[in-house]
Amino acid sequence: QVEAGLTQTVQPGWLSRWETTSRHLSLGHLVGMGMFGHVIQAKLKTPAGEITVAAKAVRRKDTQCYRNFYREAAILVAIHEDQNHENLRSNIIQLLGLVNETSQKYILMEYASKGNLLLLLRQARRQNGTIFLPYNLRYAVHISRALQELQRLALTHCDVAARNVLITADDVAKLADFGLARDVYATVQYVTGHKRERAKRENLDDEVFPLNWMSLESLETGEYTCQSDVWSFGVLLWEIATLGREPRYDGNNNPSCLQLARTLRRGVRLRRPPECSGEMYDVMSSCWQEQPSERPDPDVLEKRLLQVRNTMI
Ligand code: ADE
Repeated sequence: QVEAGLTQTVQPGWLSRWETTSRHLSLGHLVGMGMFGHVIQAKLKTPAGEITVAAKAVRRKDTQCYRNFYREAAILVAIHEDQNHENLRSNIIQLLGLVNETSQKYILMEYASKGNLLLLLRQARRQNGTIFLPYNLRYAVHISRALQELQRLALTHCDVAARNVLITADDVAKLADFGLARDVYATVQYVTGHKRERAKRENLDDEVFPLNWMSLESLETGEYTCQSDVWSFGVLLWEIATLGREPRYDGNNNPSCLQLARTLRRGVRLRRPPECSGEMYDVMSSCWQEQPSERPDPDVLEKRLLQVRNTMI
């Protein structure tokens, strides 16, 4: 079973070290809304004083939302309990605590005051229309580091996209939204093509079933690996280079998983945006190699991005 590795850890007391009580929490306003959960800004009383946090709650009290919620909590706990994890240097959103009461369940995370990267990119486009790529590339470098950490832990995020990158007050990009993340050793495919097909028929949008970020093999088999996260990272680079345009493949309006997979097998890829240098396009294209093993590892991507950035500034 897919969840075996995780459900085993979802035992009474499994999150005890992280548990805090809702009495220490005072909720503020809604800052984000997703398919399975919403995020509320909140204040948390700690021995060191009150801090602002982001509290993620289930969107509805149904099995799917709870499953997603516990999975995200389990993954974040696993990341944060790893010996080599360094909160302050990590580009993964920091877990601060969990509330697991009967009627109140929250994942408490660091509050990233600049919000999500997609909105920031679009705001930059509206405000001055100029593309200051070197600066935004800094965020890509940060996320390549988050992927290095995940690779080390044998975890896949499964939804790498600008909408899931948060920016902190001091301008550090953090990968967030681990609700779809998986242990790569879990053998069973997690979201099969036909589930996505059904979601599309029911008109659920990109936020939920983001086909255009998905790797060829994920579209075909539902299989996710660190290399499929690298594919999605290439699409994230494309989003950065276009200041948040929506990735669309030529001649494919609203394709099904298998239609899109066929298009990709023919060699079609996202085109080079006019504003994007050939060098930068080479980096993103390398993430879209048909053979997963030919895609660069996240540490190689970091080096290449730093090189590209250096030639620009
Ligand atoms: N929206 C979703 N998660 C958030 C977080 N951790 N900080 C700020 N805004 C968010």
